[in-house]
Amino acid sequence: MERIVVLGAGGFGRETLDVIQAINSARPRWEIVGVIDDAPASVQLDRLEARGVPWLGALDTFLGSSAEPVWFTVAVGSPTARRRLHARLEGAGHRPATLVHPAAHVGSQVSLAPGTIVCGGAQISTNVTIGVGGHVNPNATVGHDSTLDDWVSINPAAVVSGDVTIGATSLVGAGAVILQGLSIGEGALVGAAACVTRSVESGRMVKGIPAR
Ligand SMILES: CC(C)(COP(=O)(O)OP(=O)(O)OC[C@H]1O[C@@H](n2cnc3c(N)ncnc32)[C@H](O)[C@@H]1OP(=O)(O)O)[C@@H](O)C(=O)NCCC(=O)NCCS
Repeated sequence: MERIVVLGAGGFGRETLDVIQAINSARPRWEIVGVIDDAPASVQLDRLEARGVPWLGALDTFLGSSAEPVWFTVAVGSPTARRRLHARLEGAGHRPATLVHPAAHVGSQVSLAPGTIVCGGAQISTNVTIGVGGHVNPNATVGHDSTLDDWVSINPAAVVSGDVTIGATSLVGAGAVILQGLSIGEGALVGAAACVTRSVESGRMVKGIPAR
């Protein structure tokens, strides 16, 4: 068994614990050391305790106390926060895990970079590249020949069609659809339930149908 810590005690942190436990049910792989979070709410601590997972304290506390390198996963929805937290853990000698829920479908010629989390029900087609720290949430789809740069979040049930490119730190909101062949620039934000029919420039937020 390999030791893993989860960064983030929020909803996605606990969903990521579910991903790890589902992987372990298929084949025992990970020993969950605990969850790191700078300021967990008491309700979040109660929810961790109820599932028997310890809180390891704030990131500084963890980095100051841990001698042994462990695997880590950053279960934080914000792409830029995720990039910063990942860099701190990796800089301290810890290793980013790639986690794929056994109920996700991952096609052929798919490259998932370290730090990626693919949740249950996600569908990743063929010839897809997902960069460092990518999050593909439950029931999201990433179409064939698409390329997601580092730190991209695809929220639940979003549909990224085929031949789409998405720049670093962009977020695609829940249930949004990006039509085939489009480019989404770096740091863009696609609102929940949007239908994106034109390419989106870096740093832009779009929403609605068609997305503007
Ligand atoms: C689009 C989005 C980024 C806008 O965030 P924001 O700038 O904080 O927007 P606000 O909540 O202040 O709303 C501003 C206006 O946009 C509208 N709006 C917000 N989100 C919208 C959306 N997804 N589609 C259409 N209109 C939206 C609001 O109704 C409001 O309209 P009004 O000014 O006429 O009242 C955000 O609402 C969103 O969709 N984020 C993705 C969230 C997601 O995926 N959640 C799932 C997590 S698992």
